[in-house]
Amino acid sequence: MRISVINGPNLNRLGRREPDIYGAATLADIEKLVRDKAAGLGVEVEWMQSNHEGELIEAAHRAADENLPVVVNAGGLTHTSVALRDALAEVADGAGFIEVHLSNVHARDPFRHTSLLSDIARGVIVGLGPCGYVAAVEHFAHAANQKGLA
Ligand code: DQA
Repeated sequence: MRISVINGPNLNRLGRREPDIYGAATLADIEKLVRDKAAGLGVEVEWMQSNHEGELIEAAHRAADENLPVVVNAGGLTHTSVALRDALAEVADGAGFIEVHLSNVHARDPFRHTSLLSDIARGVIVGLGPCGYVAAVEHFAHAANQKGLA
């Protein structure tokens, strides 16, 4: 099976950006971790990052067209983007998406406690760092196996 992993604004700055909150791993480190774990599960990963809302929306459209499950860390757009929510709603109606945040957004600024994505997500993983991405990929792989689709 294939899974789309979509990363939003500023996640390309991981490793340098607020390391006390986000840790030392770069996005490339996280990508490698996820690809390695996914390969062990027989899962192919389509990985993307963009700082541009429209590119994230188009990635969600591609996933919806191909009926791919999505793992998404939308960064700050999580809290603000109706347009990204609308694009992911199509994914939610199909293979589904899991919302991931490296940090525990609920233990941070009040404006991070609101997500425009969570209520239509299959699940939400916050605060587990890079392991959250891996857990999300594992969920989809196991769910597909249960249906005999993997
Ligand atoms: C984040 C949390 C968001 O609030 C923030 O804007 C990010 C990263 C996380 O992974 O913890 O850019 O999505």
